Amino acid sequence: MGKDVIVACDFSSKEQVLTFLDKFTGRKPFVKIGMELYYAEGPGIVREIKARGHKIFLDLKLHDIPNTVRKAMAVLSNLDVDITNLHAAGTKNMMKAALEGLTRPDGTRPLLIAVTQLTSTDQESMESDLMIHAPMDEVVMHYAKCAEEAGLDGIVCSPLEAGKVHDCCGRHFLTVTPGVRFADGDVGDQKRVMTPAAARKIGSDYIVVGRPITAAADPVAAYERCVAEFCD
Ligand code: C5P
Repeated sequence: MGKDVIVACDFSSKEQVLTFLDKFTGRKPFVKIGMELYYAEGPGIVREIKARGHKIFLDLKLHDIPNTVRKAMAVLSNLDVDITNLHAAGTKNMMKAALEGLTRPDGTRPLLIAVTQLTSTDQESMESDLMIHAPMDEVVMHYAKCAEEAGLDGIVCSPLEAGKVHDCCGRHFLTVTPGVRFADGDVGDQKRVMTPAAARKIGSDYIVVGRPITAAADPVAAYERCVAEFCD
């Protein structure tokens, strides 16, 4: 898969997400389905959006004992999504078990990427709550390396970290980056942001864009602008 813009469909009902996707009559965006929509509507919403011709990143961030994650991933592999994810904090054993579970009998599987440290975790909370005392940068690179060694395809990270992740884990290792904003747009609650054009320059493989598209007056135009800046 090449560079692409993934639209974060953070809606809480099938009706809302389908009304939104109905606006896209030309190019069909790569869609991210997160916990909100998945827990509201169940696996049927994944099948329905897939059947409409969209690629899907199923963002459920699994984190449990290896056996449970292996079995859950085996169930998710039946949904035929393109990318799914887990927490690298579950350890290499958990990540390897996830890959086993996700791999279908014919050897095919969705891409599997890891969350390193959530962007809502800062140095202070990582030290006080998680008792991790290394600098955030080092922790993120270490988790990325563990994910790569476990055989995963990439990580979710800030676009600001994408270049360093490629230096550390190789150019083939995918960087999927949220926190993208237009130069003239609202930042909202995201703190460390980058434009689609800058994310492209730094080497992000996929950008995940939510509100700059979903809350735009013209979502299709906002999506096309992202694609023009990032992919074309
Ligand atoms: O609306 P916005 O563009 O901020 O949406 C970004 C999407 O990426 C949301 O679905 C958010 O949950 C997700 N995300 C993030 N930062 C991370 C991981 C995921 O913003 N570190």
